[in-house]
Amino acid sequence: MCGIIGYVGGENAVPILIEGLKRLEYRGYDSAGIAVINGGELAIRKAVGKLKNLESVVWSDPPAGTVGIGHTRWATHGRVTELNAHPHETQGFVLVHNGIIENYLALKEKLRTEGHDFHTETDTEVIVHLIAKYFAGDLTAAVHQALREVVGAYAIAVMGTDDPNTVVGARAGCPLVVGLGQGEYFLASDVPAVLNHTRDVIFLDDGEVATLTREGVRVTSLDGRVVNKDVRHVTWDPIMAEKGGYKHFMLKEIFEQPRAVLDTFRGRVVPETGDAVLDLGKAAHSLAHVERVLLVACGTSWHAALIGKYMLEEMAHVPAEVDYGSEFRYRQPVLDHRTLFVGISQSGETADTIAAAREAKRLGATAVAISNVMDSTLARESDGVFYTHAGPEIGVAASKTFTTQVVSMYLLGLALGRQRGTLSEAQGKKLAQDLLQMPRLMEGVLEQEEAVIELARQFATKRDFLFLGRGLSFPIALEGALKLKELSYIHAEGYAGGEMKHGPIALIDPEMPVVILAPRSRVYDKIVSNLEEIKARDGIIIAVGTEGDEELKRHAQYVLYVPDVPELLLPLVLVLPLQLLAYHIAIRLGCDVDQPRNLAKSVTVE
Ligand code: AGP
Repeated sequence: MCGIIGYVGGENAVPILIEGLKRLEYRGYDSAGIAVINGGELAIRKAVGKLKNLESVVWSDPPAGTVGIGHTRWATHGRVTELNAHPHETQGFVLVHNGIIENYLALKEKLRTEGHDFHTETDTEVIVHLIAKYFAGDLTAAVHQALREVVGAYAIAVMGTDDPNTVVGARAGCPLVVGLGQGEYFLASDVPAVLNHTRDVIFLDDGEVATLTREGVRVTSLDGRVVNKDVRHVTWDPIMAEKGGYKHFMLKEIFEQPRAVLDTFRGRVVPETGDAVLDLGKAAHSLAHVERVLLVACGTSWHAALIGKYMLEEMAHVPAEVDYGSEFRYRQPVLDHRTLFVGISQSGETADTIAAAREAKRLGATAVAISNVMDSTLARESDGVFYTHAGPEIGVAASKTFTTQVVSMYLLGLALGRQRGTLSEAQGKKLAQDLLQMPRLMEGVLEQEEAVIELARQFATKRDFLFLGRGLSFPIALEGALKLKELSYIHAEGYAGGEMKHGPIALIDPEMPVVILAPRSRVYDKIVSNLEEIKARDGIIIAVGTEGDEELKRHAQYVLYVPDVPELLLPLVLVLPLQLLAYHIAIRLGCDVDQPRNLAKSVTVE
């Protein structure tokens, strides 16, 4: 998630742009930049790193001008360098962008044949070149024409020296608001950036283009039709606004998961051929010779690794092992060049996982990183990297980075399965189509929040929980237990359902809630047996099952439902009620859900 700001008015633009970017810094800041137009002159300032680095560049020589745009970058395409920092410029046009352009390579090639030179590694640069190509005196018309060729997600702000009093914004799939001041107008990725100037905003919808001049704002569709928009008066305070109206970042990020999952598979799954496109760089060639996969991670990421094991073995018929980074690095692991090492780490800075990757590479394995942070240590030291596109995760306990890691495992399984021939084209197409349905199905599950709040009210005072699951529900039982521990400090254990009779069954009593994942699956009958074993011992059962399964109500006192999804994708829906349960119990107990005690967002020590 990047941050965009734009301004047209009578005031000096630079202070307004910088202050707006500060309000958007929670959206990520690998680099930042501004551009200001003064008469026909264009000034651009950029810096890698936090916003204060840009400030030190700007304030030493602040460009004059009352029309400008700015950007904080959360890198997805292209390394974190000053060259790749936005704004991007060509022929006097300058642009900032949030999102992912799926067809940027094809557009870039076509523009190159038409004489356009490119200087960055970003997808964004093709947009400003398209606008320059189509400009014939009307910036808005050029934006309409350019965006009709773009496939993907974007929120942009663009201006040009040929039309120095105009800023044009547009969105498809990424947020963009227009702030309405007195003789001054603003563009921003999110409301916090404009609240110091106005509370009257227009929320643009997909396919809409806003043209800002000192005279006012005009909204049009990509085919040039004028669109009438309601003006909303926002009452949020700035801090509340950074959380998008949610009480905590943790809750905001739980609800962002459908979008994060979509952004992670966008442009990387090909339903027409049933393939996955991973772009693993120099690690790609070794995928064909892989004889074994070793998935190494810590904490929540280890739960994603365990899900990866099940997926890779089922989709690609390749042996897959899972290990904790802290254990792997001190074992005498047996691996060689025929082993694919996959290090999973949302921060990419977990010391144990990095050490494991180094050891695996020393022993001759090919190392691939799955990370949410561009150019993180694990990413830089691996032979290939697959970035999850979850956007910055502010809550210390993982949520959207976890579900995007699960998607990464699914895509790796699809890619390996198609490459090794264990998945036919037809099977690949079905798996691809199944994945495309998930954001919508996940949204449906999140709508059950009220039912979870009621459970939290009933069980917030319990001191012990047991989470059970079988098959792909087992890693989710582990993750549900970890989330409850992390957020509410209540003791919780996750167990394989089949293991209950080997000990944990001694724990069952009327005081300890048992959360049991019981979706329709190949092991459904076995998990129902677990339900009966618990019920026979007066246990309290919270079951999570498949919509329409009335049988569960015969065994469980409380039942939450998820949609009937293909078994391989169950983790994406099953984890959601467990994240919400942990959050709402923690809230009732007054815990700091965004920064739980003793936890760190990345454990960079052993
Ligand atoms: C996640 O909720 C925890 N904060 C923790 O278990 C985390 O998953 C673990 O430290 C690994 O972090 P990483 O994904 O950044 O490597």
